[in-house]
Amino acid sequence: MDKIVVRGGNKLEGEVNISSAKNSVLPIIAASILSGDKCVIDNAPMLEDVNVIGEILKSISAKVDINRDNNKIIIDTSSIANCEPDSELVKKMRASFLLMGPMMSRFGSFKISLPGGCNIGTRPIDLHLKGFTALGAKVTIGHGYVKGVADRLIGNNIYLDFPSVGATENLMMAAVMAEGETTIENAAAEPEIEDLGKFLNEIGANVIGAGTDTVRIIGVKKLKGTTHRPIYDRIEAGTFMASAAITRSKIKINGVIEEHLKPIIAKLTEMGVDIKIEGESAIVDATKELKPIDIKTMPYPGFPTDMQAQIMAILCSVKGTSVITETIFENRFMHVSEMKRLGCNIKIDGRSAVIEGVDNLTGTQVKATDLRAGAALILCGLIAEGCTEVTDIYHVDRGYVKIEDKFKNLGADIKRTN
Ligand code: EPZ
Repeated sequence: MDKIVVRGGNKLEGEVNISSAKNSVLPIIAASILSGDKCVIDNAPMLEDVNVIGEILKSISAKVDINRDNNKIIIDTSSIANCEPDSELVKKMRASFLLMGPMMSRFGSFKISLPGGCNIGTRPIDLHLKGFTALGAKVTIGHGYVKGVADRLIGNNIYLDFPSVGATENLMMAAVMAEGETTIENAAAEPEIEDLGKFLNEIGANVIGAGTDTVRIIGVKKLKGTTHRPIYDRIEAGTFMASAAITRSKIKINGVIEEHLKPIIAKLTEMGVDIKIEGESAIVDATKELKPIDIKTMPYPGFPTDMQAQIMAILCSVKGTSVITETIFENRFMHVSEMKRLGCNIKIDGRSAVIEGVDNLTGTQVKATDLRAGAALILCGLIAEGCTEVTDIYHVDRGYVKIEDKFKNLGADIKRTN
């Protein structure tokens, strides 16, 4: 299995280009099922998760062409023959659940294997299923599968107990061809949901307010193909901002939408990082003394849980006491024990982690427990004395395109080995 080896101590300099957003592309690929036509995704990120969802679509007879040379994905869903995607593939990735809404909308049914374990929490889907039921579907769970059947989907008002990203996306997709109007209240407002709303309207749907806490969907009869260019990945951009901060460097990040990064920019600025936006680029200057801060992860536009591990890595190197509270997932501190092996001083107290900055970290072998934890351990490796080996790097490859090449181009002493 691949691992990434980082020799710490190098400052970073130069520029890095951000890829398109994983958490935009995955729901958009699922939504292509609705079109029954050919959809093209330009500037697509060549990620492991994209390969997996492509294979899942092929398992229900869609035609999927992932062209790595020109970062283009062409999907033809006119030939989809069934609504029971391959279970082994589905278990690989929680985002497989995003197929439920589109399959129910187009074919009136789905049968999906329940996922395997997940390192950051139980990841229930009760809000998805409650919403499908509100639209007139009959949903059952049994024998390791979740099934949905609906002779016809009828628009309704749905209030989400929690602004779940996946539930908001699934219900938007389930409602696009339902009879009448659907309103989703207390919807998740992440930028990736606004991007999905744009894609749905490009294929002929009528979605209003995607990216706000109230989304209205007026059912239409037929949808068609389109070509779509997803938004940049705000979490990848945040991760590279964090790399400048932890190494006290100055770098330029190309592929930044300022609005999407506001919570991340606000907290890094509070820490003492200087961030200047120039068009779709950010000049990140962290060469001054940084100070400890407190952070609480929240649904967008609050501070993103997907940046929690990365900002913790920075705070481990900042003199003083910082507190991070994780309010989104019940088990998203798996990276703490790995960071402590590098010499970080972190104490977990329920949903909070108390971090005491230390003068230096020392390299050793550590394990990526999930995608963002792996990225955070690489960040620690950039400053740890000696070599840090991050194993189980497949987690990181799910959400970052060639992360070691991007860091190498910024001057890091980093390589991938197997
Ligand atoms: C999406 O996951 C993202 N994944 C996650 O990114 C991200 O961390 C998360 O949203 C929160 O922003 C994709 O977009 C593919 P949720 P999702 O439903 O949709 C609870 C990454 O690193 N909940 O908003 O699964 C749930 O348990 C990944 O890129 C229910 O209780 O997240 C969690 O505590 C990790 N019932 C909270 O809501 C439900 O039916 C947030 O989950 C659904 C969710």
